[in-house]
Amino acid sequence: MATESGHAMSPGAIALENVTLAFGEGRNAVTALQSLSLTLRPGDFLSVLGPSGCGKSSLINTIAGFQRPQAGEVRVDGEQVVRPGPDRGVVFQQPTLFPWKLVWQNVDFGLKFRNVRRAQRDQMVDEILRKVGLSEFGRHYPAQLSGGMQQRVGLARVLVNKPRVMLMDEPFSSLDAQTRLMMQELLLEVWTEYGMTVLFVTHDIDEAIYLGSQVAVLTRRPGRLKALFDVPLPRPRTIDTLVSKDFMKLKRTCMDLLREEMLGAPAATERRGRDSNLARDRLLVESADVAA
Ligand SMILES: Nc1ncnc2c1ncn2[C@@H]1O[C@H](COP(=O)(O)OP(=O)(O)OP(=O)(O)O)[C@@H](O)[C@H]1O
Ligand SMILES: [Mg+2]
Repeated sequence: MATESGHAMSPGAIALENVTLAFGEGRNAVTALQSLSLTLRPGDFLSVLGPSGCGKSSLINTIAGFQRPQAGEVRVDGEQVVRPGPDRGVVFQQPTLFPWKLVWQNVDFGLKFRNVRRAQRDQMVDEILRKVGLSEFGRHYPAQLSGGMQQRVGLARVLVNKPRVMLMDEPFSSLDAQTRLMMQELLLEVWTEYGMTVLFVTHDIDEAIYLGSQVAVLTRRPGRLKALFDVPLPRPRTIDTLVSKDFMKLKRTCMDLLREEMLGAPAATERRGRDSNLARDRLLVESADVAA
């Protein structure tokens, strides 16, 4: 495949050029993303960190095609994104399964919608349920599964389409620590096997570094790219990765960048006066605690 500029592209390349996304009008207008440019090569795993409300979900929604930017362009494999498509799988914090459908029917839904033949669908659904460790639960309803298992169904439902791009918006943040670790390992396993491009939004700095090949830090709203750096930690990543010196260094960098953004511009802090100074001190102490 070739872009207009003549560059060869492989599947899963994402390019955002000067993307601006705003909501509402007049005094109520909110700019979520401002002139954001970002490039992901096929097979990249980019973790995205940023203060709450800075536009991370908006970024996902824009690449997914749920929202159209007012300015700029989003391209996947050289093609402008104008609507959602199965080539871009989206995983949210909650798996939003159809409660009245069995697990296998939830996973099968997208394939059926695309008129894939029944025999082939059965094979694909079986394979993916095995991959996420839910072979025995195909004939259960979502409500009969734990939160982690439901999230695995959510993952399976996206993976079954063999997407070129996976857009994940805090997918594991509602899970307990152990389940979360299992899901992270599962995600790395399928990413290694399938090689899709992943954009992974999280509030968790450890998770961002542990998973990502690169980490992007967004500014506070309107979201712009504040920093983008490689994570040169070897794979496969293990528990040792999490306690290594290099990991700690990257964590410190992320914390400093995020803290800078969360503390806000000096003008805004001064305007809000003493109360916001107290909040600011508290934030500094909390951050220092984590760093210790
Ligand atoms: N559908 C919408 N209508 C109006 N405003 C919206 C809409 N979606 C997002 N916004 C606004 O855009 C800004 C960015 O929101 P977004 O959900 O992208 O932030 P976020 O970084 O994902 O936050 P969080 O970390 O809390 O999930 C916010 O100010 C929000 O109020
Ligand atoms: Mg969000």
